[in-house]
Amino acid sequence: MSSQALQILADGEWHSGEELSEALSVSRTAVWKSLKKLSGLGLEVEALKGKGYKLKSPLSLLDKEKLKEQLSASDTLVSGEAIHVHWQIDSTNEEAKRELLKQPNQPVVILTESQTQGRGRRGRVWQSPFAENLYLTIGWPFTAGISSIEGLSLAVGLVVADVLTELGIADVSLKWPNDVLVANQKIAGVLIDISGDPLDCFNAVVGVGLNVNMSEAVIDQSWTSVLSQTGAYAQRTDLAAALIERLSVLLSEFQRHGFSHYHESWSRYDSMKGRQVVLSMGDQKVFGVSCGVDQNGAVLIECDGTIRAYNGGEISLRLV
Ligand code: BTN
Repeated sequence: MSSQALQILADGEWHSGEELSEALSVSRTAVWKSLKKLSGLGLEVEALKGKGYKLKSPLSLLDKEKLKEQLSASDTLVSGEAIHVHWQIDSTNEEAKRELLKQPNQPVVILTESQTQGRGRRGRVWQSPFAENLYLTIGWPFTAGISSIEGLSLAVGLVVADVLTELGIADVSLKWPNDVLVANQKIAGVLIDISGDPLDCFNAVVGVGLNVNMSEAVIDQSWTSVLSQTGAYAQRTDLAAALIERLSVLLSEFQRHGFSHYHESWSRYDSMKGRQVVLSMGDQKVFGVSCGVDQNGAVLIECDGTIRAYNGGEISLRLV
């Protein structure tokens, strides 16, 4: 019932207790109880005598049927049955792994309104407030061993950057390996896990977190959202459809092409090329000038006149 109530309140307008109890066919006390449950999801419901109830801000809820319709009308390579939309789960990457155990070697798409244990790279927490952003994972079968997905995470970042640019957002860039930035503030991140046998047939579990309508959050790095960039609440279902369509094409073609096919496009978004950077790998630090990425997706850093390729670590600008 809370989900039906939320669908009514999602417009951010006032709705009377009477209207809600009629629409949900329950008593006004039951309405009040179900609205109280919404606070457990981190949602703030305002209540005012004579006016009724309203959400603090409007919400764009995921619409599974609309998503399936949009995807069936496009060139996407995932079937409607492969799409799972949740209300709240631990992490879409973890849920994708669970689904892949049930049906190995079949693409699977997981979306959720919120995550209780959203994961970022390097053990960080990924903030996942209810119905504000996109938390999306696609599980995709690969047949040629782990080396066949070298550079995949960069190519996924590239797809997200293209989708944002097509929305009319200016100044989109990429920070190796796969942070998507707008005006140097992080808007999206990519986390790829593996399930199955890395030497043979395995699934790439491709998680994407995109800040969509989030306007407040405590995050220890500078961040932005689609709302902040466009000034308008985005329809999350439309954005999810665009991402799933593009990512499914990428995932179906990546094994054949490898990263070199995407190298030139990635380089056009490279926010670090030619700049003084520091690459941190645990306690080790490499200081130098970023020379872009190579054909396999490794970052190239020039240090004392020598250019070396690095596959791991975290790059940041060196303040000189
Ligand atoms: C990063 O640190 O930049 C990567 C963030 C990846 C977050 C996404 S949200 C969907 C998927 N599920 C997770 O738990 N993490 C990824």
